[in-house]
Amino acid sequence: MKFFIDTANLEQIKEAQALGVLDGVTTNPSLMAKEGITGKNNILKHYVDICKIVDGDVSAEVISTDFESMVKEGEILAELHDQIVVKIPMIKDGVKALKYFSDNQIRTNCTLVFSAGQALLAAKAGATYVSPFIGRLDDISSDGLNLIAEIRHIYDNYAFETQILAASIRHTMHVIDCAKIGADVMTGPLSSIEGLLKHPLTDSGLAKFLADYQKGN
Ligand code: G3P
Repeated sequence: MKFFIDTANLEQIKEAQALGVLDGVTTNPSLMAKEGITGKNNILKHYVDICKIVDGDVSAEVISTDFESMVKEGEILAELHDQIVVKIPMIKDGVKALKYFSDNQIRTNCTLVFSAGQALLAAKAGATYVSPFIGRLDDISSDGLNLIAEIRHIYDNYAFETQILAASIRHTMHVIDCAKIGADVMTGPLSSIEGLLKHPLTDSGLAKFLADYQKGN
């Protein structure tokens, strides 16, 4: 399972990269705004800064919603760095754009996916990654993990190569459950990665080992 971090915060990206388990970064316009990154040129520069930190794929989202503009915008994003994956929303023109980019060897991440049907369309259009938002489904009393399982089943039926990127991950149990189901990638906050480290028996066991070592020296 690949681990992506879902943030535009450079310090958190550096911290996850330093842990040695980071495979990529996802961003979106809200995450950019949260870091105070505004204006086209600043946003483009920020994507390049992220690519310099992480050794892996970096999703950069288009703002346009019509086919021609998405293509233009996506081509500019893809030109920025060979690690860039163009993030396209699951709308009708977005499906056309996914197909265009797939035909032109530009990698894509289809975002804002909330149903198995949308995920099937994204795979048919040749998306590199599909991003089902599991946390946002859970927020409205829908079962986000069940969606991951449905997509896994469908993609396996037809050997689709589109990778399931479980997004809107909120906590460590989402990560573990997605790994059990067989999501190819998870993207979440730094806390969802570092939270995997924690176990009270590890802490108490280590404290005892160190105390016993001290007794003998
Ligand atoms: O990767 C998608 C993600 O950014 C959405 O997460 O927490 O805003 O639902 P969230």
